[in-house]
Amino acid sequence: MLEQTVPIVANERDTDLYFRLVVRAPQIAPLVQPGQFAHVRILPLKTALLRRPFSIFQVAGDTFSILYKTVGQGTAVLARMRPGEELSVLGPLGHGFTVPSPGGETPLLVAGGYGMAALYLLAERSPQKGIVFVGGRRRVDILRATEFAALGWEVRAATQDGSHGERGLVTQPLLAELRRGAAGRKLFACGPTPMLQAVGQLAEQFNVPAELSMDEHMCCGVGVCLACVIPVQSGDTWEYQRTCTEGPVFDARAIAWEGVRGAPACSRPAG
Ligand SMILES: Cc1cc2nc3c(=O)[nH]c(=O)nc-3n(C[C@H](O)[C@H](O)[C@H](O)COP(=O)(O)OP(=O)(O)OC[C@H]3O[C@@H](n4cnc5c(N)ncnc54)[C@H](O)[C@@H]3O)c2cc1C
Ligand code: FES
Repeated sequence: MLEQTVPIVANERDTDLYFRLVVRAPQIAPLVQPGQFAHVRILPLKTALLRRPFSIFQVAGDTFSILYKTVGQGTAVLARMRPGEELSVLGPLGHGFTVPSPGGETPLLVAGGYGMAALYLLAERSPQKGIVFVGGRRRVDILRATEFAALGWEVRAATQDGSHGERGLVTQPLLAELRRGAAGRKLFACGPTPMLQAVGQLAEQFNVPAELSMDEHMCCGVGVCLACVIPVQSGDTWEYQRTCTEGPVFDARAIAWEGVRGAPACSRPAG
């Protein structure tokens, strides 16, 4: 894990509220594993000391990129930053996805909205290609599907308003696929918590392994403040584990869902 002040190479609107940001980070980029994240301090946000976590989307040479949605104060300021301006980045952080081994289970990826960002490096580095199930409310929430297709993955989209792919939740086409055959498959998912819980339930129902990247609020990002803990099964009992260090990727079978939404979160009145 390294801290670097890095220049922005590109920061462009992708669709609607989503942007793609590229930074030059020669020390961090080569270390990135699929599913890891960067903790970004948005330097012009003078009132805010806290960093914002973003999955690392792509790595190219000494650069890496993120896909972000503008949702609040930090991402609004980030969206106005221009190439040449600097960010402070801590990374790569967290425990990511297990890259499938050759001849192992066929991967089925499940993404909701910006969850696509966490799954791209896994898709790129997996020796075997499978299916990517991608969902969102509207067409504009389906991010970068063509880039997964270009890697040789089959992409199946679902939108809640029916504007792209199947109408409904992304778990519908996933359920249909698992009914066709679940043996030898493994699920990898990133997206909103209700989607992750639904994927976890399907994994249990069909007895397939699943790794889920949990989206919890974070403060320090490095295991100190305990703002990001979730309850995780450990033997016959359970314990709190930190999403930023033990996660964000967890084995679906270990997550004690009834406690996840009540996990402590930092408030960010001043950022
Ligand atoms: C491991 C991890 C990876 C992430 N990867 C991405 C990514 O690739 N792309 C992306 O756009 N976002 C990602 N996020 C979410 C991102 O960190 C938040 O959207 C961001 O911190 C919001 O900052 P802000 O200052 O704009 O919003 P704030 O002003 O702090 O909050 C605005 C709104 O966003 C909500 N929010 C804040 N943090 C989160 C969060 N962690 N998850 C969901 N909602 C949140 C707040 O509750 C509030 O409603 C990730 C989060 C985690 C934990
Ligand atoms: S964010 Fe501080 S311990 Fe995880």
